[in-house]
Amino acid sequence: MMTRVVHVDIAHAPYDILIGRDLLSQAEKISGLLPQSRVAIVTNTTIAPLYLAGLVESLQAQGIQCQQIILPDGEKYKTWESLNLIMDALLTERAERKTTLIALGGGVIGDMTGFAAAIYQRGVPFIQIPTTLLAQVDSSVGGKTAINHPLGKNMIGAFYQPRLVLADLDSLSTLPDREFSAGMAEVIKYGLIDDPDFLLWLEDNIDGIMAREEQLLAEAIERCCQNKARIVAADEKETGQRALLNLGHTFGHAIEAGLGYGAWLHGEAVAAGMVLAAYASQAIGHLSAQDVERVIVLLQKARLPVVSPALGGERYKALMAQDKKVDAGRIKFILLRQLGEAYIGELPESAIDAALLAGCEAAR
Ligand code: NAD
Ligand code: GLY
Repeated sequence: MMTRVVHVDIAHAPYDILIGRDLLSQAEKISGLLPQSRVAIVTNTTIAPLYLAGLVESLQAQGIQCQQIILPDGEKYKTWESLNLIMDALLTERAERKTTLIALGGGVIGDMTGFAAAIYQRGVPFIQIPTTLLAQVDSSVGGKTAINHPLGKNMIGAFYQPRLVLADLDSLSTLPDREFSAGMAEVIKYGLIDDPDFLLWLEDNIDGIMAREEQLLAEAIERCCQNKARIVAADEKETGQRALLNLGHTFGHAIEAGLGYGAWLHGEAVAAGMVLAAYASQAIGHLSAQDVERVIVLLQKARLPVVSPALGGERYKALMAQDKKVDAGRIKFILLRQLGEAYIGELPESAIDAALLAGCEAAR
């Protein structure tokens, strides 16, 4: 399989995303970008036994010295404490300003390593090697880095771009089905927000993608990365259209927080959240019932939840009021004018109530 290349054209920090097979053993793709022959690889206890040795071997064959930092696995470890473990390890080994951090893992490792790179010695180079579908299509691209705080998810972080993203399709072979489906929520999101052709393509090919057919998977990841690259190049710091990438996330974050982080995966909450956003868009006269059904059917074929938990209207609204997109106290929603055209807007309370009534468990 040919390696596909997507360029992210951010003026002050351009970089490539490479999508292909066996990339973890091709350290020559990395070595030319390093300011010194030294890296620190950050990963976790699940991914290390699967992929760390192969990556280290291929880097060492290029004469690159590798420090290995292995963190506990899980969203609950996306914390100050884990960030501090990275800092302790880097300082203990006297990592330098030119030492490159490599994130080997899903979005949790990518977000934390990126933030560590942004602040260690006021900024060191970093490379993303995403190993989940969600990370390959979304979190590894665009430079959002963060840790969680007990009072809010991703509340402490920085915009800090990687120098390279290596999306190795082979690493997806060990990804559990539930995690694969969670990544599909973000894939479907790109079709809904501004790429109706991609949405049609997904509807035609969803069964093959769910069977992880290699060419279809490569095509899907490339198209998602092209969309994300275009959006972040136009609006790196989310002053405008980048917020469209949060379709389903305002409702989704409320589901995650309301159920307790970890009960539902992020992608699962985004899937149910996109259904709520579709119902809300129907309530204000943009989508038809058939449009909403198309969204539901596609998500169901990706084996994602489409019915939201019954947290209660007041609880949903309180949780959504804590979202990062709240502006001067007003909740900004990502809504659909039609399938494949999202916009940022506000919702009358009656539309929120209608969406929750249609999309939550108790209503069924
Ligand atoms: P994750 O990083 O927790 O990975 C999911 C699970 O899969 C973990 O247990 C992980 O160890 C395991 N895993 C990873 N790769 C594997 C592989 N190849 N084989 C077997 N197991 C593997 O979760 P995620 O879904 O990748 O990322 C979610 C995180 O990403 C959240 O913290 C979210 O806030 C963040 N996120 C960030 C952005 C961004 O723009 N920065 C965008 C979306 C999501
Ligand atoms: N995942 C949303 C963003 O990168 O902006």
